[in-house]
Amino acid sequence: MKVAAIVGSIRKDSYNKKLARYIQKRYSDRFELDILDVRSLPFYDQDIENEPSEAVQEFKRRIADADAVLWVVPEYNGTIPGVLGNAIDWLSRVDKVMNGKPSWIVGASMGQLGTVKAQLHLRDILFSMGISSPLLPGNEVYVGAVHEKIDAEGNLIHEPTVKFLDSVVDNFLAWVSKLPR
Ligand code: FNR
Repeated sequence: MKVAAIVGSIRKDSYNKKLARYIQKRYSDRFELDILDVRSLPFYDQDIENEPSEAVQEFKRRIADADAVLWVVPEYNGTIPGVLGNAIDWLSRVDKVMNGKPSWIVGASMGQLGTVKAQLHLRDILFSMGISSPLLPGNEVYVGAVHEKIDAEGNLIHEPTVKFLDSVVDNFLAWVSKLPR
């Protein structure tokens, strides 16, 4: 099982990047996590969508190669960050590599609500025509006050969150294995 992770932050010390790396490490015996960097993508431009740069082609190829996508979403101004919206715009056009690709979502913020609004918006986007991705029902992972829950080595040190994440991973793998291929 190969999962592509799309992290919606390009910040060097991003908590969401750390969360993605933690998931990659903790569940390495359950699935392979390919962490994609949205920084490599230029601004989406309809004029060149049929002949995009190598970076866009590679990004799409890695999504196409994956069995599922994990969205690791920060929250900016009550919604998804622009860099994530840009990646979504590329993915939604031409070969539409997200169509039918199963998704699950996690997100971390320093506020208490842990990206609730951003995730609600992302859930809505996943139903749009260009993306059309079946989404793991329930299992909403909102890591609030993340600065208190991740240590300097990038380990999640908040036991209830780790336990919940374990159960979400179990649910995700059980759900995805039942989907038609
Ligand atoms: C934020 N942050 C933020 N947090 C939140 O819970 N709700 C929000 O609406 C916002 N809005 C927002 C806008 C902008 C422009 C910035 C720079 C930040 C705080 C945000 O959660 C925090 O910076 C996280 O650390 C961002 O995620 P990464 O980069 O650490 O993964």
